[in-house]
Amino acid sequence: MHKAIGIGLIGTGFMGKCHALAFRAAPAVFEGLPPVRLARLADVDPAVTERAAARWGFAAWTTDWQALVTDPAVDLVAITTPNFLHQPMALAALAAGKHVYCEKPLALDAAGAKQMAEAAAAAGRRTLVGYNYLRNPLLRLAKELIEAGELGEVRHFRGTHFEDYMSDPAAPHSWRTVKATAGAGALGDLGSHCISLARYLCGEVAAVQGAVQTLVPARPVPGADGQLKPVDVDDQAQALLRFASGAAGTLEASWNAAGRKMGLTVEVTGHKGALLLDYERMNELRLFTFGDRKRLDGFKTILAGPEHPDFAPFCPAPGHGLGFNDLKVIEVKALLEGLAGGQPPSPDFAEAARIAQVVEAILRSAAEGRWVEVATV
Ligand SMILES: NC(=O)c1ccc[n+]([C@@H]2O[C@H](COP(=O)([O-])OP(=O)(O)OC[C@H]3O[C@@H](n4cnc5c(N)ncnc54)[C@H](O)[C@@H]3O)[C@@H](O)[C@H]2O)c1
Repeated sequence: MHKAIGIGLIGTGFMGKCHALAFRAAPAVFEGLPPVRLARLADVDPAVTERAAARWGFAAWTTDWQALVTDPAVDLVAITTPNFLHQPMALAALAAGKHVYCEKPLALDAAGAKQMAEAAAAAGRRTLVGYNYLRNPLLRLAKELIEAGELGEVRHFRGTHFEDYMSDPAAPHSWRTVKATAGAGALGDLGSHCISLARYLCGEVAAVQGAVQTLVPARPVPGADGQLKPVDVDDQAQALLRFASGAAGTLEASWNAAGRKMGLTVEVTGHKGALLLDYERMNELRLFTFGDRKRLDGFKTILAGPEHPDFAPFCPAPGHGLGFNDLKVIEVKALLEGLAGGQPPSPDFAEAARIAQVVEAILRSAAEGRWVEVATV
């Protein structure tokens, strides 16, 4: 029997709740995981934090994240705060000897992410970054099919991450729309997920040619009676990609994509076939391979089911579908396995730093109007 792992969670927002639910669910869904002790929760508002701690089952709570990262009852610090806080919180947690599970994007820029990766390596602690879309059982099937040669030689990747939650020009500023607190805009927030999938399916991105646009030049300051402040991050981004394998690709990200609620899509094309996954229909993988009956040529749809990685522990029935929060449960499972001496969780800080390099290479390319080799960033 493993010793229980003490969890310190920072943040009670969208992702804080998602992490808390996943820490509770993972050892219940999956057999053989080390037990989890919800040791301490931190956020800035005492009433909100106290209520969340009670609801989610944390033994203690605080409004001082520094007290949480040095708490002896905490073995793993989970960081779900706005992007600009990831670096100071993770560095402090590593310095206190804790393992760190951090939300994406890892840092504000590639240099910050590199510093975090170096600190993790020096501390010898486990790290994991929350690129949860990597956990889709059908994405794992897609990778298995590519590796088994079902598509032949992979020649092209096409990825999008389109949502529309910032389409309204009257939507106020948040930490996401300010460079100092977000790093990049839609490219860092959404595009980084798409880059994580591109790397997973097709290997490292070697070079990029990018473009970015800010469609809403100024937004209202919250609580300031209509006062506008300029927006200094991108609303949408596009890039041509060249993979180390030689394959070509495209990437697009936008949070102004009217009608798209979860338009994360990946399409991989080889000389023998193609596959397509759209996270608005995340339980359906579309696969095409050339057959010998030309008039029946076409994509087929494979529904997620217990034949696919990590599905069966949730549900024994095919076609019954997993959801967004389940991806986090699978992510936490991989994390807990890694902490119990299993395979190191991935993507760790070093891999997430490579994702940050691709984001920065696209921004640099957009500014300089030329192809940028990712390794030079
Ligand atoms: N993996 C995913 O699919 C996914 C989805 C959404 C957000 N995210 C990432 O998660 C992170 C948080 O995003 P969110 O949507 O949950 O944001 P959010 O605004 O809903 O929550 C952030 C929380 O951090 C708290 N916080 C801020 N400063 C703090 C401090 N000094 N000490 C303690 N708590 C503090 C806030 O009070 C808030 O409760 C971001 O990095 C974002 O990119 C990831």
